Amino acid sequence: MEKKTAVLFVCLGNICRSPLAEGLFLRALEERGLLDRFEVDSCGTSGQHDGELPDRRTRQNALSHGLALTHSSRRIRPRDLEHFDRILVMDDANLQNVRALCTTPEQYAKVEKIRSIDPDAPNADVDDPWYGGLAGFEAVYQVLERVTVRWVEVLTAEQT
Ligand code: 4NP
Repeated sequence: MEKKTAVLFVCLGNICRSPLAEGLFLRALEERGLLDRFEVDSCGTSGQHDGELPDRRTRQNALSHGLALTHSSRRIRPRDLEHFDRILVMDDANLQNVRALCTTPEQYAKVEKIRSIDPDAPNADVDDPWYGGLAGFEAVYQVLERVTVRWVEVLTAEQT
């Protein structure tokens, strides 16, 4: 079998946006019978919530859409930049922070915003829902559900 594509989703705290992106991407893979072709993980740039489950509001929102999230928050590590093939970040601050950790042009080229492929709003941020109300969590869900399915299509096409 060909090499798996390793995909890493990154946000600030790794408790709201990136664990949801990871869960949605995994669900889309599972529904298509593609799980064995990918390795998937998520992390944050801050490390402030290391070891925590996703935010309760994120988990409740995801559960309302039938998705259970059990990821344990972790900070990005230098070896992630070596290991993963694609590193998909949520906003410009994440992009700056992850780019600052890159030590080679190859690593730098792996990092891009998750909405780079969003036809509705190319390269827009997935806004941090942390300080807002529940509507913000649902808005994040709607964007990430849409773009993670597109990423499955894009990355699967690159494999074949
Ligand atoms: P995330 O959201 O980056 O989507 O996980 C946040 C979670 C926590 C904080 C900020 C953003 N915080 O400041 O603790």
